[in-house]
Amino acid sequence: MQIGNVSIAHAITLAPMEEHTNYPFRLLCKQLGASLVCGERVDASDVAKRDRRAIKLLHTTPSEKPVVGQISGSDPDELAEAAKVVAEQGFSIVDLNFECPIRRLIGRGEGGALMADPPAIARLVAAVVKAVDIPVTIKIRTGPDAARETAVEVAQLAEQAGVAAVDVHARSVAQSYVGGPDWSVVARVKQAVKIPVLGSGGVREPIDAVRFLSETGADGVAIGRGCLGNPWIFQQARALVLGGATVAPPNVNERARVLLQLVEGEFALYGSPMAVRRLPRVACYFAKFLPDFESFRSDIQKIKNFPDFKRLVRSHFVHA
Ligand SMILES: Cc1cc2nc3c(=O)[nH]c(=O)nc-3n(C[C@H](O)[C@H](O)[C@H](O)COP(=O)(O)O)c2cc1C
Repeated sequence: MQIGNVSIAHAITLAPMEEHTNYPFRLLCKQLGASLVCGERVDASDVAKRDRRAIKLLHTTPSEKPVVGQISGSDPDELAEAAKVVAEQGFSIVDLNFECPIRRLIGRGEGGALMADPPAIARLVAAVVKAVDIPVTIKIRTGPDAARETAVEVAQLAEQAGVAAVDVHARSVAQSYVGGPDWSVVARVKQAVKIPVLGSGGVREPIDAVRFLSETGADGVAIGRGCLGNPWIFQQARALVLGGATVAPPNVNERARVLLQLVEGEFALYGSPMAVRRLPRVACYFAKFLPDFESFRSDIQKIKNFPDFKRLVRSHFVHA
């Protein structure tokens, strides 16, 4: 797949997820087979004024390329300025979020709120395309709700405005993250535009990625919740899609190795206090398979630093 001047090796990609798809997690997904990885949505207003927290969220290095940085906003100048910062940070592609269903954003007329106004999306895309040299993509929903399917119109107008690819989360904004995705909308978008189409929604197992690609005709699939605690899904799905040998599920040593790499990366990125606060959520996804998961979950509350965490993982993961 080719997104503007960026070549993507294969169809299996990582979907952006707030609080999850930070730099250490993306690096891991890349190493375990994702062709393209995407950072979480950051407010364009913060990025445009180079707010310290926003810039930290936009941390990247060449080792995870090609990588997407995602921003949201509704002001063309602010979005264009923020896109320039995303490019400066070293991202390969800038993605505009028109899909986020959270109330705070909807209230400001941003994110998913814009699925009700396709011409406004086209105006924002045009402003950003003019401002940056890297490819501009959009992440959209099927429409504002079940009664209004605007994805095809949005994709067509955005294509005319210069967008390099479109990524459809196959649920409506009103659905948020609940209920079955409707992959047929992705298929309709694919039929309606010439640019690459990616999509996401409901891919939990490697075989779901294969079904998604064949049922929708999409160029790429983005894996969301299905990779939390299971980043090996990328290499498994890649093998299925490219027709390679089946990849066996990870053993306990591999699970421990990957978890430790991720958590060490979190300590390096955030520093100890914040990495410790994030530990239960980050680590428990990886530990669910443990027979003594409940005791792991309670022990993790006592961890104060990375060496302690290493000892905890070593003691629990060997007994699995
Ligand atoms: C916790 C969480 C956070 C998310 N954050 C973002 C985000 O920052 N930007 C975005 O475009 N999509 C976001 N999404 C949507 C995912 O990228 C993806 O489209 C969706 O989760 C696909 O559905 P699935 O999880 O059923 O595979 C988020 C999803 C979840 C579950």
